[in-house]
Amino acid sequence: MTEPAATLLVRNVGRLVTCDPERGAAPGVVEGGAVAARDWEICAVGTEGEVAAHPLAADAVVVDAAGNAVVPGFVDAHSHLVWLGERSDEYAARAAGRSYEEIADAGGGIRATVAATRAGELEELVAAARPRARRMLRSGTTTVEVKSGYGLEDQAELRQLAAALALGQDPELPEVLTTYLPLHALPEGDRAGFVERACTRGVERAARLARFVDAFCEQGAYTVEECARLLEAGRRVGLGGKLHADQRSRGGGARLAARLGAVSADHLEHAGDDDLAALAAAGVVGVILPGASLVLGGPPPPGRRLLEAGARVAVATDCNPGTCYSESMPLMVALAVALGGLTPAEAVVAATAGGAAALGLTDRGVLRPGRRCDLAILDTPHWLDLGYHLGANPVRTVIRAGRVAAAG
Ligand code: NIG
Ligand code: FE
Repeated sequence: MTEPAATLLVRNVGRLVTCDPERGAAPGVVEGGAVAARDWEICAVGTEGEVAAHPLAADAVVVDAAGNAVVPGFVDAHSHLVWLGERSDEYAARAAGRSYEEIADAGGGIRATVAATRAGELEELVAAARPRARRMLRSGTTTVEVKSGYGLEDQAELRQLAAALALGQDPELPEVLTTYLPLHALPEGDRAGFVERACTRGVERAARLARFVDAFCEQGAYTVEECARLLEAGRRVGLGGKLHADQRSRGGGARLAARLGAVSADHLEHAGDDDLAALAAAGVVGVILPGASLVLGGPPPPGRRLLEAGARVAVATDCNPGTCYSESMPLMVALAVALGGLTPAEAVVAATAGGAAALGLTDRGVLRPGRRCDLAILDTPHWLDLGYHLGANPVRTVIRAGRVAAAG
């Protein structure tokens, strides 16, 4: 029986970075490689000669990588992509010595974005987020997680989720997975009633629009008890758990994520080694957000510490208007190495296969037959340039689900 013909061939790849542990030492490089896909699914990966043995449809799209490197599409597992308003004044104020907390206490910070975002119509939210999503795709991101969290009350939170899902329908933007983040900014007034509504009506409504539920577990934000209640309520309606944990202080967030079997615990700058060991033992992926660590100062992102604790690591942008206004996964790879202590190979795996694990996805993040054909062709033969060439966008062409989504 002949195999079904491929509809896409990416050939003449100098170094094919598969991120597949079955290909030996990370990041699983094949020299002189190629990838073939049928529709959205990879059907052959290997050397040019191996992949050439696979039948190719007469009308297949053939992309010549011109000797450059290819990596799996980045999976950005933590972003706050949908927002209105702008906070460049806070950036300048922090540079002049005011802290993130001082700005938040004075009514700025997350609440400033909430005031602008909750007033926006769905179309305005989509229009504001679209160019950010396009920059993500152009820098190699083929899947992004997008959180609510700037709506504060029900309808505005759900509108943010709907806007994120609308973006993901566009084949020239990354695929979107959504997370309901109702416990982010504190409400004015009745806090207990607000938490109660999020844990009842909120999660029930969000269950149709989101895959995960998340909370900001922090001094000045929400307590371990409030976050536990939300994640448990989310679990009852089928939402996986995520947590902003131990970002600005050691407050028990990582422990809670481990106890509840969350999919991921994110930030973790202040988590202790025993907290990270608890995450590892519970199979919770640690997501480092080195852009936010850089902007806010404080302890470095615990990339190396997570690996030493035996945990799975992902690196993500945290793209948001307060702590990290960046869509670039190549920049996060660079920062994961420079600040988080990962090797370049570990950082690239954290940005691809690690991101997929942090979203509970087993169909992407590595280049292997049967997985989604999401990949980025670089403009350089050296995959190390992802982290080494600071501030550049080394991505030339992006394939999402077996189709060219951006061509350089
Ligand atoms: O992940 N830590 C809380 N949330 C965001 C920041 C959001 C904002 O400042 O608007 C974060 O860093
Ligand atoms: Fe965040």
